[in-house]
Amino acid sequence: MSIVVTGATGQLGRLVVEQLLARGVDPAHVVAGGRATERLADLAERGVRTARVDYDDPATLDAVLAAGDTVLLVSGSQPGARVAQHRAVVDAAVRAGVARIAYTSILGAEDTPLVLAPDHQATEAMIRESGLPFTLLRNGWYSENYVQPLQQARETGVVASSVGDGRVASATRADYAAAAAAVLTGEGHENAAYELSGDTAWSFDDLAATYSELLGREVTYVRRTPEEQRAALLAAGLDEGTAGFVVTMEGNIRDGALAHTTGDLARLAGRHTTPLVEALRPAA
Ligand SMILES: NC(=O)c1ccc[n+]([C@@H]2O[C@H](COP(=O)([O-])OP(=O)(O)OC[C@H]3O[C@@H](n4cnc5c(N)ncnc54)[C@H](OP(=O)(O)O)[C@@H]3O)[C@@H](O)[C@H]2O)c1
Repeated sequence: MSIVVTGATGQLGRLVVEQLLARGVDPAHVVAGGRATERLADLAERGVRTARVDYDDPATLDAVLAAGDTVLLVSGSQPGARVAQHRAVVDAAVRAGVARIAYTSILGAEDTPLVLAPDHQATEAMIRESGLPFTLLRNGWYSENYVQPLQQARETGVVASSVGDGRVASATRADYAAAAAAVLTGEGHENAAYELSGDTAWSFDDLAATYSELLGREVTYVRRTPEEQRAALLAAGLDEGTAGFVVTMEGNIRDGALAHTTGDLARLAGRHTTPLVEALRPAA
């Protein structure tokens, strides 16, 4: 019986594997899966079992999943395609008779207006319908999403957005990975849904102040209307679809969709979440 982590070639999945090992899980009982298996070579050298796992290739899923396993399904990165991909993983998990499936969903999945939510809601529904014991890890925003705007602020002294006074309770990938590892190794998480987010919901004024502190220069938050933001993004070279997506996401943040702070993440990780300034310090 193993703990199988899909998406272990990616940033979050890799951190989950590291946290499992840090918790003392025998590497021989951890399976790290992904498509780009060359990224798993160092884990294999440390005794972790590695496997090609492609959500679009059910044979790779049948080869890796076994009765009694605990599986972490890391959500795929292709909106639109991923409901079918997740379906393939859940079906394979049922065929194998795994003991439990955990899934990286989205904060507030039950009723969030977030533009990214429908894929996650569909996946949660199929997991519940599968009859398998499950744990839903409803992840909020990564603090690392604010590294790229930090680099822009370094040059321009500005962070511009249409989020208004919206707040973001972000946490680092390592924070979310710590919670995932706790859920994969611990007892009592059957059929539970956790709302995972940072301890502090910060505003974009706070973000600008954090950038100012880290960069040693004044950074100002410039409030744009959604129309101004769309025009600015198009002028910066984004295509219509991407600009529209960004403005919609910012509207979701303005409406508070990423501001929940339930404390679930800190409770599962057994520590406070990483403050925004510490999350961004390495990039500064
Ligand atoms: N909360 C947030 O702020 C936020 C932000 C971005 C994304 N996300 C979601 O969280 C997930 C994990 O985040 P991350 O930072 O670790 O992303 P990431 O570094 O891009 O990793 C994505 C992982 O998904 C795997 N994957 C994608 N399509 C696959 C497929 N068809 N079959 C098998 N594996 C597939 C990739 O495998 P290969 O590399 O081997 O192809 C990779 O290991 C993302 O995929 C996305 O759903 C959340």
